[in-house]
Formats: sequence, structure tokens, C-alpha cells
Amino acid sequence: MNWNENSQDPNNRIDPVMFVTRSLDEIRFWSRIMKEHSLFLRLGFRCEDTQLINEANQFYHLFEQIEQRSHSLTNQTAPEQMRRFNSEVQLAATNIFAFKRKVLGLILSCQLPGANNFPLLVDHISREANYFRKRLIELNEGKLKPLADAIIKENVFFLRIMADHAKFIGHLLDPSERKLVDMARNFSNDFDELVFQARDLEGMKPQSQTVPLLDQFLDQNRVSVVSLRDFKKTARDLIEECRIKSIIHPLLADHVFREAEHFLEIIDMFEAHLTGTMSQRR
Ligand SMILES: [Fe+2]
Ligand SMILES: [Fe+2]
Repeated sequence: MNWNENSQDPNNRIDPVMFVTRSLDEIRFWSRIMKEHSLFLRLGFRCEDTQLINEANQFYHLFEQIEQRSHSLTNQTAPEQMRRFNSEVQLAATNIFAFKRKVLGLILSCQLPGANNFPLLVDHISREANYFRKRLIELNEGKLKPLADAIIKENVFFLRIMADHAKFIGHLLDPSERKLVDMARNFSNDFDELVFQARDLEGMKPQSQTVPLLDQFLDQNRVSVVSLRDFKKTARDLIEECRIKSIIHPLLADHVFREAEHFLEIIDMFEAHLTGTMSQRR
């Protein structure tokens, strides 16, 4: 994985094979996510917002093409070709980020009354675009963040994303689904706490970056992400089977489920590196 703290390389540079593999993984995951964001934005616009609808549709097709191209490339792709593709995708991510911020501006200045996307949702998907953009820049620069810094930064980012998801689910379920709304609110509170806890650990850097503290941090986050992931999976299945009342698009339910799975993979990867590379050095 990308944040490999390779003790043989004091500059923490990424090797060419890993560069291609990581780039493809990121692009395959996030281009599908960006494509779906375009759909959610479009569904939230009013019928008369034809210009915004067109723009959203253009982004949908752009990221669909990027997704298809990423699946036609393999781990054998030449690093130079990968680097060019990364730059191209990074530009697309920058553009969709700008579009999302423009939409946020329109909503917050009350220019889209009656449109159906919450400002926090639009801000949230813009943060995800910005994250994707920055990952591609980082990969192309070929320099990796030290493992301990990456652990805290990625967790601060994704814990907030998870807290937002719980809030969206709670607000998009029908208010009469009292039990599920309650569960969503509890997840929201739990993840808000975890975000504060992660920021506390960040504030105590670098002294807080010991293996036992980081290991415990990952363990604790994993427990909460696993239960949120399971809740999202249940919600997704119930929505697909039309067993609960909500205005959640089935694809949105699956989308947030996949983002939780992605965060879990990142936690597991950090855990493996932390208990492998770093503890050997102590
Ligand atoms: Fe998303
Ligand atoms: Fe998300």
C-alpha cells in the first residue's frame, strides 16, 4: 500500500510497481464515487435548473469514462503512462470539486430554494473530491507521508466522513422510522466523539505517535466503523427490498456502505504496517 514506511528507503519513496497498483486502486474506487455524486447532485436539482443538470450529467459521463479506462489498465502499465493518467484524472477531480463548491454557494445564498441536497451533503462530497485530488498529487510526487502522520490524518478525515453519513441517514429516513432514526443519531454522536478524540491525538503530535497509542487508536476506530458498516448494510438491504420508509436512493445507501468498507481496508492496512515495520524497529 501507499503509506508503506519502508525502512530501506530513508526518503519514503514509492516504488514503481506499487505506484501503479495504488494509483489504479484509488482511481477505480473514487471515479465510481465521483460518478455517483454527479447523479445525486442531479437528482437534487429542480427541473428548471437545466444548466446545473447538464453540468452534473457531463461529470457523470466524464467519470464513467475514467472508471472504464482505469479498468482497461493493468498493474503492468508503464509508470509514465500511469503518471499522465493520474494528472488527467486529478484535473477532472479538481473540476468536480469546483462545481460542488459552486453548488454549495448557490444553496447557502438561497438561490436554489426547494432543491433537495443538504448543504452538508454537498460540502461532504466536495471534501471527498478534494481528498481524491490530493491523493493523486501525492502519488505523482512519489513521496509518501510518514506512517504515523498518515494514520492520524486519514482517520481524522474518514471519521468525519462517517459522522456525516450517520447524519444524512438520520435525516433522510422517514421521521416515522423512529427506531432507525434513533440508531442513526447514536452513530452520529459516537463518530463525533471519535473525531474529537482523533483531533486530540493530532494535537499531541509528535509525542502521541507511539506504537501502542496508534494501535489502540486504530482498534477503537475499527470497532465503531464495523458496527456503522453493518448498520449501513442493513439499511441498504431494507431500502432495496422496500421494507422501510425513506427518501434515500438505494444507490446512496450502497455508496455510503462502500465508503465504510474502504475506510476499514485503510485501517487494516495501517494496522499491518504498524505491527510489522514499525514494531520491528523498536
Ligand atoms: Fe461519497
Ligand atoms: Fe461519503
